[in-house]
Parts: sequence; structure tokens; C-alpha cells
Amino acid sequence: MPQDRSAAIVERTADSIVANYGRQPLALVRGEGLHVWDADGNRYLDFAGGIATTVLGHCHPRVVAALEAQAHTLWHVSNLYHTAPPVELAERLCAHSFAERVFFCNSGGEANEAALKLARRYQRDAGWDRFEIVVFDRGFHGRSLFTLSATANPAYQRGFEPLVPGIREARFGDLDSVDAAIGPHTAAVLVEPVQGEGGVRPASREFLEGLRERCDASDCLLIFDEVQCGMGRTGELFAYQHYGVVPDVMTLAKALGNGIPIGAMLTTASIGGALVPGTHGSTFGGNLLAAASAVAVLDELTEGGVLAHSLRVAEQLENGLESLARNLGDRVAELRGLGLLRGIQVRGEAGKVVDAAREEGLLVISAGADVVRLAPALTVSEEQIEEALPILERALQRA
Ligand SMILES: Cc1ncc(COP(=O)(O)O)c(C=O)c1O
Repeated sequence: MPQDRSAAIVERTADSIVANYGRQPLALVRGEGLHVWDADGNRYLDFAGGIATTVLGHCHPRVVAALEAQAHTLWHVSNLYHTAPPVELAERLCAHSFAERVFFCNSGGEANEAALKLARRYQRDAGWDRFEIVVFDRGFHGRSLFTLSATANPAYQRGFEPLVPGIREARFGDLDSVDAAIGPHTAAVLVEPVQGEGGVRPASREFLEGLRERCDASDCLLIFDEVQCGMGRTGELFAYQHYGVVPDVMTLAKALGNGIPIGAMLTTASIGGALVPGTHGSTFGGNLLAAASAVAVLDELTEGGVLAHSLRVAEQLENGLESLARNLGDRVAELRGLGLLRGIQVRGEAGKVVDAAREEGLLVISAGADVVRLAPALTVSEEQIEEALPILERALQRA
């Protein structure tokens, strides 16, 4: 194949698509399992996973079969009618979690938007003047105006002011700062059990337990944003199960559809009861193709031995990263993560490591300026981890 097909697509992107993403100079055309191919036929080992999304790898046969079957049956009729795939998905999500009710949407941002609106509505219905949301530094919750306002990062917020009022910022891991932020107007505390975009930072168990206690004591809702760290990333189906701390509301997206766009907000029957007809909605929410795909993803994760496998290979990856860090002296500042969501905090620029790894056929991503993030499919093999580690080590040396 000629070597210029990728370059042509890269160039046409700039001429036709809004330039709001910092894309890598790579045009990908096909994927299978842990591999993707560019338009020139070059193969890459994918440890980026579509930003922690393709949890079962590319074109997983069970998900493809579900999608195909649904494609020949019914795609979309809207939420004016009852349909089976979203019910099957909601029943499974509830059976595997604390939840009793699910709201479906199309992305992580929308799932968090729904959670924040639910928190305000629930408190108002209960007769409280509670509308403030406590969020954390380095958190990331989405790009809609409410979720952007809840994302306490000026780099994302600049130029979009005025933001949604009522957001109070506390420090991740610091319960004293939470005590200072929670007040008589607090509706909810919103937290990622493992911060993803903020640099792959797992919360401590004590911190999440402390949040639970404080929410209970002050009648505010505890919302776990598991958009990135849910769906098996930590080795448990949901991160809250890893910590043993149960939230009132949990949001999912990314891996829920293994790349087919779908988001979900899960909660209890009594809290979910605040969203009566007309209060919130989405034309595509619970879309039949997306819901059928997500049913297959959830079944594969819960029946297929995938989580047990992921924990075994996660240990192998963790050990490999530790020995790599030892070999590289002070190049690596810190290793963090849980399960198959791993961060390597480097001294220097993470972007350069990402570029150097790509040049050797390994896709990884950054999480902030100095963290290299690994989020391979949970189906990654031992051999693929053995293949990735030396590439990463060379990339860290070179970049
Ligand atoms: C923890 C978390 N919440 C929310 C979002 C937003 O999800 P989406 O991009 O699907 O709107 C992301 C995206 O990276 C995320 O990592």
C-alpha cells in the first residue's frame, strides 16, 4: 500500500472538521482485538483503547453479533414507546450493582449532566434549598456547561464563562477540604473513584468512606462518576465494588458499549423517582443498537471470565512497569492505577513518550501533561503485555 493514505486523511481532516482535538498524525481504518491498522496498512498494538472504551477489544465477535442482530430488527423508535433492549440492559445493570433504576443517554457528559440535574431536582422535591455540587481538583466530568462547570480545571473552562453557579471545589483525598465545602446548600458530592483525565489517581478507601459518611450526615447525594473507571477497569465490574463504598448515583459510558455510544445514570428507586415525565430526556437515550451492544458487553464481562483474566494480566503489567521504572532511574516519578487503568508519571512531557511509542507501533495516551496512561482492553494477552513493555521502556528512554 502507498504510504500516503494516512497523510491524505490527516490533511482532509484539517480542511473539513473543526480543529477542537489535538489528534495524533495517524488515520486508523480497521481494528481487531488489541490491534488497529492505519490507512497505509501499518499495525499498532492498542493500549489506548479509544480512551478506556474498547474494554473487550475491537470488533469483539459477541458485540458484533448483537449489533448485527439488532440492526436487522429495529434501530430507533424513541422513548415514546417501550422497547426490550434497554429494559434488558437496565435489568442487568441493576442485578449487578446497588442500583434500582437507570436513565440512558449517549455519553459520559450526558450521564453526569443527568446526575447533577437529578441531585438538584431530588433535593428541591424534598423541600430543601440544596443546589450546590461539591467537586474535586483534577476531576473531569464532561463538556456540557453544567459538567464543564463541575470540572474544576480553568484550562477547559476558559472562555465559556459565565459557568453554572453553585459549584464548590474541594481537594481530592482531603476530607478537611470537603468539610469546608459541604454546607446547608449542598445537593451532592461528585467524585471519580479513580480520576482518569486528571492523571490516573485512585482515591483511597478512607477518602471515599469519609465522603459517604459526610453525605449521610448532611443529607446530600454521593455521585460516583465511573465513566472511565467503571465497567471492569479496576478488576471489579464497578469501581465502587473495589472500594466497598456504595454511592447514591453512579454514571457510566465509555466501555458500556465497547465503543458504541451509550451512557447511563444508575440510582435507587426513591432518588430516581424525582425524574417524573417531562423533567429530563434524550431522543437517542436507550437507542436499540447501543442497548443491544451493551447487553452483550455486560454479559461477556460477567460470564466470560474476562474480569479474572484482567486482574491476572494487570498484575503482570504492574510488575513490568515497576521493573521498567527501576531500569529508568529518575525518569519515572510515580506509577499509579488500578486494574488495567495505569498511569506513569514521568519527569518530562508525556506527549513525547506517546509519540515515541507510536513510532514503534504501540498506542498509549497521556492524562495531563506528564502522565502516560495505559488502558488496554481487558482481553489483552500476556504476550501483548510482554510486547508492549520494552517498547514503552525505549520510548521513555528516547523521548
Ligand atoms: C470520568 C469521566 N467523566 C465524564 C467524561 C465525559 O465523557 P464523554 O466524553 O463521553 O462525554 C469522561 C471522558 O473522558 C470521563 O473520563
